[in-house]
Amino acid sequence: MGKRLLSGSDVTLMLLFALVSLLSAGEAEMIREVNGEAKSSNSSRIDCHPEAGSDQAKCEARGCIWKPSDVPKEPLCYYPETHGYIISNTVEKPSGITVDIVRNTDFPIQRSQSQDINKLCVEITYLSGQSLRWKIFDPANARYEVPVPLDLPAAPETEENNRLYRVQIQHKPFGIQVIRKGSKEIIWDSAMPGFTFSDQFLQISTRLASNYIYGIGETEHPSYSHDLNFHTYGLFAKDQPPGNKLNSYGLHPFYMGLEKSRNAHGVLLLNSNAMDVTFLPDPALTYRTIGGILDFYMVMGPSPEAVVQQYTEMIGRPVLPAYWSLGFQLCRYGYANDTEIADLYKDMKAAEIPYDVQYADIDYMERQKDFTLDKVNFKGLPALVDQMRAEGMRFIFILDPAIAANETEGSYPAFDTGIEKDVFIKWPPELSNDIVWGKVWPDYPNVTVDNSLDWDTQIKLFRSFVAFPDFLKNSTAEWWGEQIKDFYNNVMKFDGLWIDMNEPANFVHGTAGEKCLGDQTLENPPYMPPLESMHRGLNHKTICMNSEQILADGTRVKHYDVHNLYGWSHTKPTHDALLSTTGKRGVIITRSTYPSSGRWAGHWLGDNYSSWDQLLKSIIGMMKFSIFGISYTGADICGFFNTAEYEMCLRWMQLGAFYPFSRNHNTINMPRQDPVAWGAEFAAVSRDVLNIRYTLLPYLYTLMYEAHAHGNTVVRPLLHEFVTDENTWKIDRQFLWGPALLITPALDPGVTVVRAYVPNARWYDYHTGEAVGVRGQFVDMDTPLSKINLHVRGGHILPWQKAENNTHYSRQNPLGLLVALDDGGSAHGSLFWDDGEGIDTVQNKRFLLTTFTVSSGVLTSAVPTDGLAEADRLTLGLVKVWGVTAPVTRVTMSATGQPDTDLAFTYNAEVQKLQFDATSQSHSTEKPFTITWNTA
Ligand code: NOJ
Repeated sequence: MGKRLLSGSDVTLMLLFALVSLLSAGEAEMIREVNGEAKSSNSSRIDCHPEAGSDQAKCEARGCIWKPSDVPKEPLCYYPETHGYIISNTVEKPSGITVDIVRNTDFPIQRSQSQDINKLCVEITYLSGQSLRWKIFDPANARYEVPVPLDLPAAPETEENNRLYRVQIQHKPFGIQVIRKGSKEIIWDSAMPGFTFSDQFLQISTRLASNYIYGIGETEHPSYSHDLNFHTYGLFAKDQPPGNKLNSYGLHPFYMGLEKSRNAHGVLLLNSNAMDVTFLPDPALTYRTIGGILDFYMVMGPSPEAVVQQYTEMIGRPVLPAYWSLGFQLCRYGYANDTEIADLYKDMKAAEIPYDVQYADIDYMERQKDFTLDKVNFKGLPALVDQMRAEGMRFIFILDPAIAANETEGSYPAFDTGIEKDVFIKWPPELSNDIVWGKVWPDYPNVTVDNSLDWDTQIKLFRSFVAFPDFLKNSTAEWWGEQIKDFYNNVMKFDGLWIDMNEPANFVHGTAGEKCLGDQTLENPPYMPPLESMHRGLNHKTICMNSEQILADGTRVKHYDVHNLYGWSHTKPTHDALLSTTGKRGVIITRSTYPSSGRWAGHWLGDNYSSWDQLLKSIIGMMKFSIFGISYTGADICGFFNTAEYEMCLRWMQLGAFYPFSRNHNTINMPRQDPVAWGAEFAAVSRDVLNIRYTLLPYLYTLMYEAHAHGNTVVRPLLHEFVTDENTWKIDRQFLWGPALLITPALDPGVTVVRAYVPNARWYDYHTGEAVGVRGQFVDMDTPLSKINLHVRGGHILPWQKAENNTHYSRQNPLGLLVALDDGGSAHGSLFWDDGEGIDTVQNKRFLLTTFTVSSGVLTSAVPTDGLAEADRLTLGLVKVWGVTAPVTRVTMSATGQPDTDLAFTYNAEVQKLQFDATSQSHSTEKPFTITWNTA
């Protein structure tokens, strides 16, 4: 991980880059550097036979070239340079370019089972000065288009000078080039062979502006910065625990790319079909999707944070969850009864470990049926919930989408009303009028489940038929909301909801009936992306692709096209129902996500394993979800599957204390792994680190507000703050909270030292307040078992509060400030504060925004927004100032209408720490104040 010195090839590369910048884009296009060598633009191989079983005959039948290669992993079968489409007509307008293109029929059709569309229309729209769209579609026949609404500017940017980019069209093969005007870099260049647009196979490649590219999900990646050496990732929502290269719960066809000029851009492919993305060393990438159209959106940044801000402006800003949801949370699949939860709560209280949220998983339900209560084992749960809520705690329950359908005794309102309102997914009427039945958790009535039997036999004998609500329909959202409200009013109170299994997961493949009806090329498409169990068809562990869903406007669509939107469609109705039922905003976490899910919910990273490598993977996962516009994320602390081990779980508690969503959760039949399950020492370390989390919650909440209001990231990759420093481009073993808190966890067994990067700024050790002696370097940081390394960046002011057992109490403490001075003795920061759970407090300006500035020994506050109710106001408390170089002689505080007062202070010359307490002044923070310290 050491700092890389400039090598000869780097220098060549820099010269080459300078040369490319001087050339016109057209000339520059001819020159590419690959590993320091100039290479003609079309020399990289795009795989013409990505399916297994490629050979020379099959390759040549596609009109492609078969040639051995010395380069490991390079495809042997690749497209000739001119393969693709050719321009037949171009119309340029101030708002964009429309291009008609035709397939180059010098080449045979590639897949006889997937009809090529020979004439296409390309519409390029200059959405704004920093965003554009290019949409490639069949002008003759409407095809499925993603129904997820984006917030696009009302009118395109028609003034060329206002645009950060220009667009160039290449003729043969047809391709679009987007050029950043400032640096003249080509940041999108699809003038590459292999462009294909057929009914069930669409492929497009682009060269990349650098080797640094991030995002694309949801699949586990070994590193945050992608390895471009011919890696392909299949993408399709699946009930699949995270594992190397495995497609799991959601779909996010979005990446952020860095440019050699240190600018950044982002690209969304708005397509919701099963797909794959291949990263190539050129550097380049290839998308292959099996339906819909090609609808690309690019945002120009130019900083990585600006990319996320612009992307979330389009897809919707992340939700602001309730304050309490930033507290620590406990969950477990397999609580035997409510007493177990009550005992856990008692033990956590006794151990004084901060904790805000308790969950109940499907165990609380009667035979795992939504909206029911197991009246034998969880009879006491409603009373426990009431008791805990009265003590400031919160409760979250799980809900699954699948609704049990085999109730024999009495009625099951969720199913009965669902039938009345016709909410369940059915076959297309031309095939059958029946529901597409599946099987998930719910059991048949009157069975005794024999857990010793194998899984498939258990499903056959004990699991009842289920129906899947079609959440794309408005009537389904209404019905779902009514069920949630009834449950709250008649069974149990709750504060948030956890929606699971919404890929949708199914324990039988396709249907519990005979087999999937209809066109089998939807179940087993002519091109199958490399997905988990791909040979078993797309409906493996989910419902049939021929199932029919109905969009809000009544359009009939196939599950094949909207499968990846199932979780997305489940989220807003759940969010809206929570708000209207409880009258508060609470929080939703959901398993399956798509771009814009973050508007309503957070996401946990799914059923991970209790293994050391999952600590690193969780950081990578959270950083990716940050750029996908979902800020409320985290992994199951200590792991979901397998037995956790002491040291790993302890290190995971330390890391997890810095997940925005901080929950310890594991699966059934596993030993306990909560912080009071391991003995006093473990409990003490957990308490200490969670006390730090709770102390910093006002800062974390302010960051969540910044994400919600402006689209900033909360879990922030280092490169977002230090993009000019190439060392940060690959760092994924450390992350930031916003701009100012650097988190360096221990991620490996047995370590007492971590090798970590100190970015180029002044930093202070959070634990001691001492300035770090180095910057812009990798260093060894001590990390005994009881410690996680945390550093505060000079130049920033972090709001904080003394920790308590839960946020109900900590929110009432005075507001502290942690002022970390930069080299020039300055710092700034802010506090966002509202009632913590009111609906739309930001939109309705029912909040306080205070900014703090320090310069030349004077701390001043300003109040841009003062909309806080009196009951929620905060008084100023303890202020810690780090990096005060000269001894302090006097500290005075002044505020309008009040006499200046001296504040008692302490100054530690050795550590250069000043500390003073304003609590005695009872100064309410919505009133501006000034505090001055005089130095000797
Ligand atoms: C799968 C979820 O991912 C997991 O967190 C949960 O415990 C189980 N379903 C049981 O509901």
